[in-house]
Amino acid sequence: MKLLRIVQISDIHCGSARFDPDLMEQTISQVNELLADVLLVTGDLTTEGYYDEYQTALGYIERFKVKKKIIVPGNHDAKNVGYRTFEKLIGNPFTVTKLGGIIICGADSTEPDLDDGQLGRAHTRELKSYFSEDFDFKILALHHHVISVPNSGREMNILRDAGDVLKMAVKCGVNLILSGHKHVPHLWHFEGIKVVTCSTTTSRRTRGIYKPSYNIIEIDDKLKIVKKEVEGEAKVLYYGEY
Ligand SMILES: [Fe+2]
Ligand SMILES: [Fe+2]
Repeated sequence: MKLLRIVQISDIHCGSARFDPDLMEQTISQVNELLADVLLVTGDLTTEGYYDEYQTALGYIERFKVKKKIIVPGNHDAKNVGYRTFEKLIGNPFTVTKLGGIIICGADSTEPDLDDGQLGRAHTRELKSYFSEDFDFKILALHHHVISVPNSGREMNILRDAGDVLKMAVKCGVNLILSGHKHVPHLWHFEGIKVVTCSTTTSRRTRGIYKPSYNIIEIDDKLKIVKKEVEGEAKVLYYGEY
């Protein structure tokens, strides 16, 4: 398979006092050197879902030079009826992207003004219909994590219907699930699926020792998942078969 390079950034949090424009500038210049095919933003572009926060975030996002951008909303983006602003400025929060033998489904896991998330039966069924098709590699992208993330404090807002979503993903042969939300980078191996969370890329809303980072995912005949600290090292989280 022809190499597909995806960069996952997450939890930008424009509008937060802990948003750091310098981290964003560094991220843009680093990512633009990668010549990535896809930029995936796994939610929390904003802090309160306000219109001007969206505008600021999108002003940055448009400077990433990639062939395709996929954006899913986070719980912060759905605050203050921000889910309507998302649709107006970005579009449908549920997207399906087919690139060669790869399918990427972006799903909206948010519930207005709640921190925890849910995909719901209708959306899970819709995902099942897309993932049941024949693809070489299948990716689900959503904001909320589907498995608890270590070193992220007390678990309070995992996807409420994570069990049903995981069951669907396993049954359909999903290869990779990409999320944000907890601001902690991690990789779980679950029933053949690589379940990856991304740190916050551009804010100092980090937990413990974790630093702002983004993920670089390369798919050809093998799968490579790299965590890149914006101000530091790159670390290979996985390289091998899928
Ligand atoms: Fe966040
Ligand atoms: Fe979040």
